[in-house]
Amino acid sequence: MFDRFPEPVADPLHAVMARCRADPRAEKMDLGVGVYRDDGGVSPIMRAVREAEIWLAGHGDTKAYQALAGDHDFIDAMTSLVLGNAHPAVQEGRIAAIQGTGGTGSLRIAMDLARIAEPGARLLLGLPSWPNHAALAAAARLELVTHTYFDVATQVIDYEAILEAARGARAGDLFVFHGPCHNPTGADLNRDQRLELLSILTARGAVPLIDAAYYGLGDGLEADLEVLRETAAAVPRAFIAVACSKSFGLYRERTGVLLAICADAGERARVQGQMEKTSRTLVSMPPAHGAAIVARILTEPSLRASWEEELAGMRQRIIGLRAELAALSNEAPILAGIDRQRGIFRMLPLTPEQTESLGCDHGIHMAQSGRINIAGLKRGDAPRLAAALGSVAA
Ligand SMILES: Cc1ncc(COP(=O)(O)O)c(C=O)c1O
Repeated sequence: MFDRFPEPVADPLHAVMARCRADPRAEKMDLGVGVYRDDGGVSPIMRAVREAEIWLAGHGDTKAYQALAGDHDFIDAMTSLVLGNAHPAVQEGRIAAIQGTGGTGSLRIAMDLARIAEPGARLLLGLPSWPNHAALAAAARLELVTHTYFDVATQVIDYEAILEAARGARAGDLFVFHGPCHNPTGADLNRDQRLELLSILTARGAVPLIDAAYYGLGDGLEADLEVLRETAAAVPRAFIAVACSKSFGLYRERTGVLLAICADAGERARVQGQMEKTSRTLVSMPPAHGAAIVARILTEPSLRASWEEELAGMRQRIIGLRAELAALSNEAPILAGIDRQRGIFRMLPLTPEQTESLGCDHGIHMAQSGRINIAGLKRGDAPRLAAALGSVAA
């Protein structure tokens, strides 16, 4: 059995990270991995997380298994954060929800459910996208159907291609939407586009799968969540996979939730049952620690205020860096318009040779695709990045 597996191929992004670690230059930049970093280059434990952990250490009374759906306080708090208690789907008891292991685990449950409901279901995905979307579809045995989301050379969303893909959706298909702050392009659909696509998908019986990994890092926490709320209100059925990795800085705690907006309460009960059955075979019972931290932060007013304040600071840093880079676009035209995009990523139209040269000649390490993590810039790095981009991609 064991000799049947193919030779391992290193994950390209991890290879970039390893090369950056091995680079002895003090002024090197790591723009590869997709985590928020502060201006000292650290991915910090948020103050509210630290306080919640201290509280939990003194108040926890068991390590027994959680319920199949996970931590109910966490699920309720996240549902209320994401949708608001007044949301019609919440009021009408139409939300099925399960704790997922991060955004990834939540997406995987949604994809498994789609296949179980409709064995011929497909995943409709705009490219470029987070590479794990396609890998998860393969793991869940969904046929992957891709379309163009964005033209990297012109930095423009290809709305016609997205529309055409939505028009080709079949009943039972999943159609991926990124929540605010598209990875890897930073370019989000506008409200009219989103609502038009949702109405086409509804007419075709396809289900939107909204991947919300970067809420609070775009225009503002409420503004970013409003995108999710509006989407959930516009369709009878949707999945929303919500990660706590980025917005709470809980990457390694594997914390997230999958919400399913259902058409009615009867449907909700069936979806909830299938979610729990599916999750049982993936993780049995979900992990507790990250969920307990988030539940504490969201339900204790002082911690919630602290979290929102720190998240706003992270967002302001990203917006500030975008403005700084845009102001340098005379020197590096490839950065033009970077201040009109959201979140931590920008996809630069660079060839693999150009990204290689940035790494070797300038100590600026990034994914070979040309994706940069703007939050990877430390204090004072922006002018050096612009100068290097100007020389490599003149
Ligand atoms: C678009 C997108 N979705 C989902 C995730 C899932 O993150 P996690 O599983 O770490 O919560 C990520 C992480 O990079 C992402 O970029």
